[in-house]
Amino acid sequence: MTPQEIRNRLEFFRDLGIRELWVDRAAAPASAPPPPVAEHTPMPKPPANPIPLIPLAPEGDTLAAIQADIGDCRRCKLCEQRNRIVFGSGNPEARLVFVGEGPGADEDAQGLPFVGRAGQLLTQMIDNTMSKEGMTERRADMYICNVVKCRPPENRTPEPEEMEICGQFLYRQLMAIRPKAICCLGATAAKALLNTGVGVMKMRGNWYKWRDIPVIVTYHPSYLLRPYNQNAKREAWEDLKKVFHFVYGGK
Ligand code: URA
Repeated sequence: MTPQEIRNRLEFFRDLGIRELWVDRAAAPASAPPPPVAEHTPMPKPPANPIPLIPLAPEGDTLAAIQADIGDCRRCKLCEQRNRIVFGSGNPEARLVFVGEGPGADEDAQGLPFVGRAGQLLTQMIDNTMSKEGMTERRADMYICNVVKCRPPENRTPEPEEMEICGQFLYRQLMAIRPKAICCLGATAAKALLNTGVGVMKMRGNWYKWRDIPVIVTYHPSYLLRPYNQNAKREAWEDLKKVFHFVYGGK
């Protein structure tokens, strides 16, 4: 990588509001393939030939600072059709963070994550499981956010470029909160944090790590709303029980 390419990469992260970077040179491939060419030119544009740069949260980073850096974001084409940026909601000192995919229509209208049908199911699952397990915390004690903060048109899956740009803010949110565990809701969240294309069915029930934080993967609540996925619902309940006992069980 030439000094100019390094400079471009650093400028890319600086434009995203990231002021401190850690370069994992050992993980850098000898010749990384160029990223796919996008039709839409995002702002800022990721430089060609990236090497893995792992951004750390700026010293003393806070959710408020991250939200301010997002501002009225125009960094990717998701800005064109969104009504509201959905940053995240819940306890900024949460011990457990849920990460979904991206806002749907209700979230886009209200500016809050998981408030539509899938969100109501998620709330029910969290609150009922906690209550059944004899634990006092509820959804409001946790933090919930998404990989992308703007609604993808027709609720399509976010594209890699959108995930890369918005993912930097997700990483900062997670670093600022530093929860005891993270629960990925669905494949997009798992891909963003664990960089895997393995399906949820295979990943669920096991522990992984994002940086040094334990991660569990379970089904997205939208998937559980489909009537033929009732078995998955039972499995999701098991996953929640597991993560709740890990996070809140031994306090
Ligand atoms: N689905 C998501 O992934 N996130 C939301 O906020 C709502 C629905």
